[in-house]
Amino acid sequence: MTMSYTARLLVVDDEEFGGAAADAVLDRLPERSPRLGIATGDTPMPLYVELARRVRAGEIDVSSGFLIALDEYIGLDCQDPRSYAAYVRTRVGAPLGIPAHNILVPDGLAADPDVEAAAFERRIDDLGGVDVQIAGIGSNGHLAFNEPGSPLESTTRAVALSEQTRADNARFFAGCSDVPHRAITQGLGTICRARSVVLLARGATKAAALAAALTGPVGTEVPASVLQRHPAVTVIADRSAAADLSIRHH
Ligand code: F6R
Repeated sequence: MTMSYTARLLVVDDEEFGGAAADAVLDRLPERSPRLGIATGDTPMPLYVELARRVRAGEIDVSSGFLIALDEYIGLDCQDPRSYAAYVRTRVGAPLGIPAHNILVPDGLAADPDVEAAAFERRIDDLGGVDVQIAGIGSNGHLAFNEPGSPLESTTRAVALSEQTRADNARFFAGCSDVPHRAITQGLGTICRARSVVLLARGATKAAALAAALTGPVGTEVPASVLQRHPAVTVIADRSAAADLSIRHH
């Protein structure tokens, strides 16, 4: 297998993960009013912890920035601690000193999720787009909540979550039956309009999906493979997530 395009791949030890990810993000982030695309979940937490540490140490100031979420569960109130709105506000916005009015997350309780999705897509454009999109990958290759089969040019829309994703995310809920069935997600086309993407992967459960996304064919079966078409992607993986990548790396 070879990587047929020019993404930058860093394979790092666990203790280096947050620092390497923070360096990659800050390298591409403008100092004035940076617009940072936020992935939720477990994978990016070392990055958010490290960015917060640098803010507290006075090394960086991103307080004039905007945070733009990738997705939100349909049916969860933004005050629900399991909502992605709560995640972005409390785990990223507050520690980075970014005020709530500069945080964009789709409204999971919108009366019409399709109307909300279209409005969210416009809000991203109105802000001038995303400078650096932080992304994770699902064990099934999903990118944001674009599940296998999602059109590569898709825009923000309401989607059904796959059973695998609901099972994977059951750990954040009382159980699988508690996980919402639907979400509003940025589309693959939306994500590809970000000026840069930093794709993060940690753990053995991501190894097959990461290899398929980076070295397999580009196609709807592995949504994250669309990033092969993006001109400015940095991939940061720990050794377990990189285990199926038979490519040369440093
Ligand atoms: C989250 C998101 C998802 C996650 C992916 C990995 O906003 O869009 O694509 O990045 O499901 O989740 P974790 O990091 O929890 O394994």
